[in-house]
Amino acid sequence: MKDEPLKHIQTIDREGFQEDLISWFSREQRDLPWRKDRDPYKVWVSEIMLQQTRVDTVIPYFNRFIEKFPTIEALASADEDAVLKAWEGLGYYSRVRNLQSAAREVHETYGGIVPDTPKGISALKGVGPYTAGAILSIAYGKPEPAVDGNVMRVFSRILSIWLDIAKPASRKVFEEAVRELISKENPSYFNQALMELGALICTPTSPSCLLCPVREHCQAFHEGVQTELPVKSKKKAPRKLNMAAAVLFTEDDRIVIHKRPSTGLLANLWEFPNFEVGPSRSGRKQLGEALETDYGVEASLKAGIVSRIQHVFSHIIWDIEVYIGSVKSSSLHDTELIAVTEEELEQYAFPVSHQNIWKETRQVTTG
Ligand code: ADE
Repeated sequence: MKDEPLKHIQTIDREGFQEDLISWFSREQRDLPWRKDRDPYKVWVSEIMLQQTRVDTVIPYFNRFIEKFPTIEALASADEDAVLKAWEGLGYYSRVRNLQSAAREVHETYGGIVPDTPKGISALKGVGPYTAGAILSIAYGKPEPAVDGNVMRVFSRILSIWLDIAKPASRKVFEEAVRELISKENPSYFNQALMELGALICTPTSPSCLLCPVREHCQAFHEGVQTELPVKSKKKAPRKLNMAAAVLFTEDDRIVIHKRPSTGLLANLWEFPNFEVGPSRSGRKQLGEALETDYGVEASLKAGIVSRIQHVFSHIIWDIEVYIGSVKSSSLHDTELIAVTEEELEQYAFPVSHQNIWKETRQVTTG
Protein backbone atom coordinates (compact mmCIF):
# COMPACT_ATOMS: atom_id res chain seq x y z
CA MET A 1 0.00 0.00 0.00
CA LYS A 2 1.67 3.19 -1.19
CA ASP A 3 -0.25 5.49 1.12
CA GLU A 4 0.31 3.59 4.34
CA PRO A 5 3.05 5.76 5.87
CA LEU A 6 4.16 3.15 8.42
CA LYS A 7 4.18 0.14 6.14
CA HIS A 8 7.88 -0.63 6.81
CA ILE A 9 7.35 -0.87 10.55
CA GLN A 10 6.09 -4.45 10.02
CA THR A 11 9.42 -5.68 8.70
CA ILE A 12 11.98 -3.87 10.83
CA ASP A 13 13.98 -6.02 13.27
CA ARG A 14 12.78 -4.16 16.34
CA GLU A 15 15.19 -5.61 18.87
CA GLY A 16 18.18 -5.46 16.58
CA PHE A 17 17.40 -1.82 15.83
CA GLN A 18 17.09 -0.94 19.53
CA GLU A 19 20.29 -2.78 20.38
CA ASP A 20 22.36 -1.19 17.59
CA LEU A 21 21.01 2.28 18.35
CA ILE A 22 21.45 2.12 22.11
CA SER A 23 24.89 0.50 22.11
CA TRP A 24 26.11 3.15 19.65
CA PHE A 25 24.77 5.90 21.93
CA SER A 26 26.41 4.29 24.98
CA ARG A 27 29.78 4.38 23.18
CA GLU A 28 29.57 7.61 21.23
CA GLN A 29 27.39 10.06 23.13
CA ARG A 30 28.77 13.54 23.58
CA ASP A 31 29.71 14.69 27.03
CA LEU A 32 27.03 17.35 27.57
CA PRO A 33 26.36 19.19 30.83
CA TRP A 34 22.70 18.09 31.03
CA ARG A 35 23.75 14.46 30.78
CA LYS A 36 25.63 14.57 34.10
CA ASP A 37 22.57 13.49 36.07
CA ARG A 38 18.88 12.82 35.58
CA ASP A 39 17.53 15.71 37.61
CA PRO A 40 14.12 16.34 35.93
CA TYR A 41 14.56 20.10 36.40
CA LYS A 42 17.86 20.12 34.51
CA VAL A 43 16.49 17.86 31.79
CA TRP A 44 13.55 20.24 31.48
CA VAL A 45 15.70 23.39 31.26
CA SER A 46 17.98 21.77 28.68
CA GLU A 47 15.13 20.56 26.50
CA ILE A 48 13.47 23.98 26.49
CA MET A 49 16.78 25.64 25.59
CA LEU A 50 17.49 23.08 22.86
CA GLN A 51 14.25 23.83 21.03
CA GLN A 52 15.19 25.92 18.00
CA THR A 53 18.75 26.36 19.33
CA ARG A 54 21.95 24.46 18.60
CA VAL A 55 23.77 22.41 21.22
CA ASP A 56 26.96 24.50 21.01
CA THR A 57 25.01 27.67 21.65
CA VAL A 58 23.05 26.14 24.50
CA ILE A 59 25.97 24.74 26.55
CA PRO A 60 27.22 28.02 28.12
CA TYR A 61 23.66 29.29 28.64
CA PHE A 62 22.68 26.06 30.34
CA ASN A 63 25.66 26.17 32.70
CA ARG A 64 25.04 29.79 33.65
CA PHE A 65 21.30 29.29 34.05
CA ILE A 66 21.74 26.30 36.36
CA GLU A 67 24.37 28.16 38.36
CA LYS A 68 21.98 31.09 38.84
CA PHE A 69 18.82 29.02 39.30
CA PRO A 70 19.95 25.60 40.53
CA THR A 71 16.52 24.34 41.59
CA ILE A 72 12.85 24.71 40.74
CA GLU A 73 12.44 26.77 43.86
CA ALA A 74 15.25 29.14 42.88
CA LEU A 75 13.66 29.69 39.48
CA ALA A 76 10.16 30.00 40.93
CA SER A 77 11.24 32.74 43.33
CA ALA A 78 13.50 34.67 40.95
CA ASP A 79 12.67 38.08 39.44
CA GLU A 80 11.45 37.76 35.88
CA ASP A 81 13.98 40.40 34.80
CA ALA A 82 16.84 38.28 36.14
CA VAL A 83 15.50 35.21 34.36
CA LEU A 84 15.17 37.09 31.06
CA LYS A 85 18.70 38.41 31.53
CA ALA A 86 19.99 34.83 31.85
CA TRP A 87 18.22 33.98 28.58
CA GLU A 88 19.36 37.15 26.77
CA GLY A 89 20.52 36.27 23.26
CA LEU A 90 18.91 32.81 23.10
CA GLY A 91 15.76 34.09 21.44
CA TYR A 92 12.18 32.81 21.65
CA TYR A 93 11.84 34.42 25.06
CA SER A 94 8.34 33.08 25.68
CA ARG A 95 10.13 29.78 26.29
CA VAL A 96 11.69 31.10 29.49
CA ARG A 97 8.67 33.08 30.63
CA ASN A 98 6.61 29.90 30.32
CA LEU A 99 9.35 27.89 32.02
CA GLN A 100 9.27 30.21 35.00
CA SER A 101 5.44 30.14 35.25
CA ALA A 102 5.53 26.36 35.07
CA ALA A 103 8.30 26.19 37.70
CA ARG A 104 6.09 28.32 39.95
CA GLU A 105 3.23 25.91 39.40
CA VAL A 106 5.40 22.87 40.13
CA HIS A 107 6.68 24.58 43.26
CA GLU A 108 3.20 25.53 44.51
CA THR A 109 1.10 22.58 43.32
CA TYR A 110 3.47 19.63 43.29
CA GLY A 111 5.81 20.49 46.17
CA GLY A 112 8.66 21.15 43.77
CA ILE A 113 8.55 17.69 42.13
CA VAL A 114 8.20 17.70 38.33
CA PRO A 115 5.17 15.49 37.53
CA ASP A 116 6.03 12.07 36.09
CA THR A 117 2.83 11.40 34.12
CA PRO A 118 1.97 12.54 30.58
CA LYS A 119 -1.16 14.25 31.87
CA GLY A 120 0.55 16.09 34.74
CA ILE A 121 3.56 17.20 32.79
CA SER A 122 1.69 18.21 29.62
CA ALA A 123 -0.51 20.54 31.64
CA LEU A 124 2.50 22.73 32.47
CA LYS A 125 2.93 25.94 30.53
CA GLY A 126 5.26 25.60 27.56
CA VAL A 127 5.49 21.81 27.85
CA GLY A 128 4.36 20.40 24.50
CA PRO A 129 4.39 16.75 23.43
CA TYR A 130 8.12 16.80 22.56
CA THR A 131 9.25 18.26 25.89
CA ALA A 132 6.85 16.04 27.84
CA GLY A 133 8.24 12.92 26.15
CA ALA A 134 11.85 14.05 26.59
CA ILE A 135 11.46 14.66 30.33
CA LEU A 136 9.40 11.52 30.95
CA SER A 137 11.87 9.30 29.11
CA ILE A 138 15.19 10.89 30.10
CA ALA A 139 14.44 11.78 33.72
CA TYR A 140 11.86 9.12 34.60
CA GLY A 141 12.61 6.24 32.23
CA LYS A 142 9.09 6.15 30.76
CA PRO A 143 8.64 4.79 27.22
CA GLU A 144 7.17 7.98 25.75
CA PRO A 145 8.06 9.36 22.31
CA ALA A 146 9.95 12.68 22.08
CA VAL A 147 9.52 13.69 18.47
CA ASP A 148 11.01 16.92 17.16
CA GLY A 149 12.16 17.84 13.66
CA ASN A 150 15.41 15.89 14.04
CA VAL A 151 13.68 12.73 15.12
CA MET A 152 11.21 13.10 12.25
CA ARG A 153 14.15 13.37 9.84
CA VAL A 154 15.78 10.22 11.25
CA PHE A 155 12.56 8.22 11.29
CA SER A 156 11.46 9.40 7.86
CA ARG A 157 14.61 7.72 6.57
CA ILE A 158 14.62 4.60 8.74
CA LEU A 159 11.03 3.79 7.79
CA SER A 160 10.89 5.59 4.45
CA ILE A 161 8.03 7.84 5.53
CA TRP A 162 7.10 10.35 2.83
CA LEU A 163 4.82 12.60 4.89
CA ASP A 164 5.50 16.34 4.86
CA ILE A 165 7.19 16.93 8.24
CA ALA A 166 6.35 20.65 8.09
CA LYS A 167 2.65 19.75 8.52
CA PRO A 168 1.67 19.64 12.20
CA ALA A 169 -0.46 16.51 11.65
CA SER A 170 2.59 14.47 10.62
CA ARG A 171 4.09 14.46 14.10
CA LYS A 172 1.40 12.10 15.40
CA VAL A 173 2.37 9.46 12.82
CA PHE A 174 6.02 9.69 13.88
CA GLU A 175 4.99 9.45 17.54
CA GLU A 176 3.08 6.30 16.73
CA ALA A 177 6.18 4.88 15.02
CA VAL A 178 8.40 5.70 18.01
CA ARG A 179 5.83 4.20 20.39
CA GLU A 180 6.04 0.95 18.43
CA LEU A 181 9.82 0.83 18.31
CA ILE A 182 10.97 2.44 21.57
CA SER A 183 12.96 0.26 23.96
CA LYS A 184 11.01 -0.49 27.12
CA GLU A 185 14.26 -1.30 28.92
CA ASN A 186 15.98 1.98 28.12
CA PRO A 187 13.64 4.59 26.69
CA SER A 188 15.98 7.35 27.85
CA TYR A 189 18.89 6.13 25.74
CA PHE A 190 16.59 5.21 22.87
CA ASN A 191 15.23 8.78 22.59
CA GLN A 192 18.56 10.45 23.22
CA ALA A 193 20.19 8.17 20.65
CA LEU A 194 17.70 9.34 18.02
CA MET A 195 18.52 12.97 18.85
CA GLU A 196 22.24 12.21 18.77
CA LEU A 197 21.98 10.33 15.49
CA GLY A 198 20.10 13.28 13.98
CA ALA A 199 22.79 15.69 15.20
CA LEU A 200 25.91 13.69 14.32
CA ILE A 201 25.14 11.22 11.52
CA CYS A 202 21.68 11.53 10.01
CA THR A 203 22.10 15.22 9.18
CA PRO A 204 19.77 17.17 6.88
CA THR A 205 21.66 17.41 3.59
CA SER A 206 24.45 14.85 3.61
CA PRO A 207 23.82 12.00 6.02
CA SER A 208 26.95 9.96 6.89
CA CYS A 209 25.32 6.63 6.14
CA LEU A 210 28.64 4.79 6.09
CA LEU A 211 29.14 5.66 9.77
CA CYS A 212 25.55 4.97 10.75
CA PRO A 213 25.00 2.33 13.43
CA VAL A 214 21.50 1.54 12.12
CA ARG A 215 22.21 1.64 8.39
CA GLU A 216 21.23 -2.03 8.11
CA HIS A 217 17.80 -1.18 9.45
CA CYS A 218 17.32 1.88 7.26
CA GLN A 219 14.75 1.56 4.49
CA ALA A 220 15.79 4.83 2.81
CA PHE A 221 19.42 3.64 2.66
CA HIS A 222 18.30 0.37 1.09
CA GLU A 223 16.33 2.26 -1.50
CA GLY A 224 19.10 4.86 -1.97
CA VAL A 225 16.67 7.71 -1.26
CA GLN A 226 18.14 9.04 2.00
CA THR A 227 18.88 12.49 0.57
CA GLU A 228 15.33 12.85 -0.73
CA LEU A 229 13.97 12.50 2.77
CA PRO A 230 12.49 14.06 4.78
CA VAL A 231 9.79 15.70 2.70
CA LYS A 232 9.59 19.22 4.11
CA SER A 233 7.59 21.98 2.43
CA LYS A 234 9.01 25.50 2.56
CA LYS A 235 7.71 28.10 4.98
CA LYS A 236 6.58 31.50 3.71
CA ALA A 237 9.40 34.01 3.39
CA PRO A 238 9.53 36.37 6.40
CA ARG A 239 7.93 39.79 5.97
CA LYS A 240 10.21 42.83 6.03
CA LEU A 241 9.53 45.68 8.46
CA ASN A 242 11.32 49.04 8.14
CA MET A 243 12.07 50.53 11.52
CA ALA A 244 13.91 53.46 13.04
CA ALA A 245 15.39 53.42 16.55
CA ALA A 246 16.80 56.21 18.69
CA VAL A 247 19.60 56.00 21.21
CA LEU A 248 18.83 59.08 23.29
CA PHE A 249 21.18 60.55 25.87
CA THR A 250 20.14 62.83 28.69
CA GLU A 251 22.20 65.85 29.75
CA ASP A 252 23.81 63.71 32.48
CA ASP A 253 24.74 60.99 29.97
CA ARG A 254 22.08 58.50 30.91
CA ILE A 255 20.52 56.41 28.17
CA VAL A 256 16.81 56.20 27.43
CA ILE A 257 15.19 52.76 27.33
CA HIS A 258 11.70 51.27 27.22
CA LYS A 259 10.18 48.00 28.44
CA ARG A 260 8.28 46.09 25.76
CA PRO A 261 4.69 45.05 26.45
CA SER A 262 4.03 41.90 28.48
CA THR A 263 2.59 40.03 25.51
CA GLY A 264 3.71 39.42 21.94
CA LEU A 265 7.14 39.36 20.34
CA LEU A 266 10.03 39.79 22.81
CA ALA A 267 7.58 40.41 25.65
CA ASN A 268 9.02 42.23 28.69
CA LEU A 269 12.45 42.72 27.17
CA TRP A 270 14.01 46.18 27.09
CA GLU A 271 14.74 48.21 23.99
CA PHE A 272 15.71 51.60 22.63
CA PRO A 273 12.65 53.57 21.53
CA ASN A 274 11.77 52.47 18.02
CA PHE A 275 8.96 52.61 15.51
CA GLU A 276 7.94 51.20 12.19
CA VAL A 277 8.60 53.74 9.44
CA GLY A 278 7.34 54.07 5.89
CA PRO A 279 9.73 53.91 2.96
CA SER A 280 8.88 57.24 1.32
CA ARG A 281 9.92 59.79 3.98
CA SER A 282 13.04 60.30 6.02
CA GLY A 283 13.30 57.76 8.83
CA ARG A 284 14.77 60.42 11.11
CA LYS A 285 11.78 62.70 10.63
CA GLN A 286 9.28 59.94 11.25
CA LEU A 287 11.23 58.84 14.34
CA GLY A 288 11.19 62.37 15.76
CA GLU A 289 7.44 62.67 15.19
CA ALA A 290 6.67 59.27 16.70
CA LEU A 291 8.73 60.04 19.82
CA GLU A 292 6.61 63.13 20.25
CA THR A 293 3.18 61.59 19.55
CA ASP A 294 3.71 58.22 21.28
CA TYR A 295 5.83 59.27 24.26
CA GLY A 296 5.38 63.03 24.38
CA VAL A 297 9.14 63.45 24.20
CA GLU A 298 10.87 66.14 22.23
CA ALA A 299 14.19 64.76 21.08
CA SER A 300 16.91 66.36 19.09
CA LEU A 301 18.12 63.74 16.64
CA LYS A 302 21.48 64.05 14.94
CA ALA A 303 21.48 64.00 11.16
CA GLY A 304 22.78 60.80 9.63
CA ILE A 305 22.27 57.16 10.33
CA VAL A 306 24.63 55.59 12.90
CA SER A 307 24.13 52.16 11.40
CA ARG A 308 21.60 49.81 9.92
CA ILE A 309 20.81 46.68 11.86
CA GLN A 310 19.01 43.72 10.42
CA HIS A 311 17.47 40.98 12.53
CA VAL A 312 15.77 37.92 11.09
CA PHE A 313 13.03 36.26 13.13
CA SER A 314 11.18 33.17 11.96
CA HIS A 315 8.32 35.26 10.52
CA ILE A 316 9.61 38.87 10.24
CA ILE A 317 12.77 40.71 9.31
CA TRP A 318 13.49 43.92 11.15
CA ASP A 319 15.47 46.43 9.13
CA ILE A 320 16.41 49.14 11.62
CA GLU A 321 17.95 52.55 10.95
CA VAL A 322 19.69 53.75 14.09
CA TYR A 323 19.92 57.43 15.12
CA ILE A 324 21.51 59.18 18.07
CA GLY A 325 19.95 62.10 19.86
CA SER A 326 19.46 63.95 23.08
CA VAL A 327 16.56 64.65 25.39
CA LYS A 328 16.05 66.59 28.59
CA SER A 329 15.67 64.12 31.46
CA SER A 330 12.82 66.25 32.86
CA SER A 331 10.82 65.45 29.73
CA LEU A 332 10.78 61.74 30.59
CA HIS A 333 8.55 62.14 33.67
CA ASP A 334 5.22 60.39 33.26
CA THR A 335 6.31 58.59 30.10
CA GLU A 336 7.00 54.90 29.55
CA LEU A 337 10.65 55.74 29.09
CA ILE A 338 13.38 55.57 31.73
CA ALA A 339 16.97 56.78 31.70
CA VAL A 340 19.77 54.60 33.09
CA THR A 341 23.53 54.89 33.35
CA GLU A 342 25.78 52.91 31.07
CA GLU A 343 26.60 50.55 33.94
CA GLU A 344 22.96 50.01 34.80
CA LEU A 345 22.23 49.21 31.18
CA GLU A 346 24.08 45.90 31.66
CA GLN A 347 21.40 44.69 34.08
CA TYR A 348 18.58 44.85 31.56
CA ALA A 349 17.77 42.09 29.06
CA PHE A 350 17.76 43.32 25.46
CA PRO A 351 16.93 41.49 22.23
CA VAL A 352 20.05 40.77 20.15
CA SER A 353 19.11 43.47 17.62
CA HIS A 354 19.11 46.09 20.38
CA GLN A 355 22.36 44.80 21.87
CA ASN A 356 23.76 45.41 18.41
CA ILE A 357 22.25 48.90 18.28
CA TRP A 358 24.10 49.69 21.50
CA LYS A 359 27.40 48.19 20.29
CA GLU A 360 27.29 50.22 17.08
CA THR A 361 26.35 53.39 18.95
CA ARG A 362 29.21 52.98 21.41
CA GLN A 363 31.66 52.63 18.54
CA VAL A 364 30.48 55.96 17.16
CA THR A 365 30.29 57.82 20.49
CA THR A 366 33.56 56.55 21.94
CA GLY A 367 35.45 56.80 18.67
N1 ADE B 1 18.39 18.07 21.16
C1 ADE B 1 17.24 18.04 21.84
N2 ADE B 1 17.39 17.42 23.02
C2 ADE B 1 18.68 17.04 23.08
C3 ADE B 1 19.46 16.38 24.05
N3 ADE B 1 18.92 16.00 25.20
N4 ADE B 1 20.76 16.18 23.78
C4 ADE B 1 21.27 16.61 22.63
N5 ADE B 1 20.61 17.23 21.69
C5 ADE B 1 19.32 17.46 21.91
